[in-house]
Amino acid sequence: MSVMEKLLTRRTYRRFAQKAVPQDVVEDIIEAVRLSSCGANRQAVRLVVVNKPEDVASVQPLVKWAAYLPPEQGTPKADELPTLYVAVVQDTAIPGDLNTDTGIALANMTLAAWDKGVGSCIMGAINKPALTELLHIKEPEKLAFMVAFGYPTHEAHIVPLTGETGVKYYLDGQKDYCVPKRSAEEIARYL
Ligand SMILES: Cc1cc2nc3c(=O)[nH]c(=O)nc-3n(C[C@H](O)[C@H](O)[C@H](O)COP(=O)(O)O)c2cc1C
Repeated sequence: MSVMEKLLTRRTYRRFAQKAVPQDVVEDIIEAVRLSSCGANRQAVRLVVVNKPEDVASVQPLVKWAAYLPPEQGTPKADELPTLYVAVVQDTAIPGDLNTDTGIALANMTLAAWDKGVGSCIMGAINKPALTELLHIKEPEKLAFMVAFGYPTHEAHIVPLTGETGVKYYLDGQKDYCVPKRSAEEIARYL
């Protein structure tokens, strides 16, 4: 599969098989962040890997799924939960544009996982105080995002963004995600 095909299918996944993410994929996720470009090469992004089943279970109630869908559609059921979380943390003692560096790290780590068939959901709607305590994150480190990982049990398709769809993703008859995206003409212009 080409990089462009990977980018097409590297979508957000929110229902997963109850199968552990293997260690080589965890190591690829870490390596993808380690190799990421960042301002002045200062490397302020840190990761906390949550892979023990009891720890993964503790994280589950502290993240919020699919704001555009009713919970019965968007929140994974007990047998659909992700099997790995990685916390993305910023070392705020290091100066620079940490949010841009974090965004690049998120893109790279989720693409590296998808290259091995592991889907993900970047999660910003998280209970930061509770997760900071649970994951033993101490100042000057700051929790930025959680990323959920697992083997998806649904598909996700890009559909044209129309006046009717707006930006909100929805489920089709197969319970696959349909994700409206603007056209190339709308997002890019040639000078
Ligand atoms: C910064 C950021 C924060 C997000 N936070 C959440 C979240 O808290 N919960 C969730 O279910 N999805 C979350 N998402 C997933 C987005 O809803 C998803 O990326 C968007 O709907 C587009 O779908 P796509 O990733 O398949 O292109 C987040 C994505 C990003 C990039």
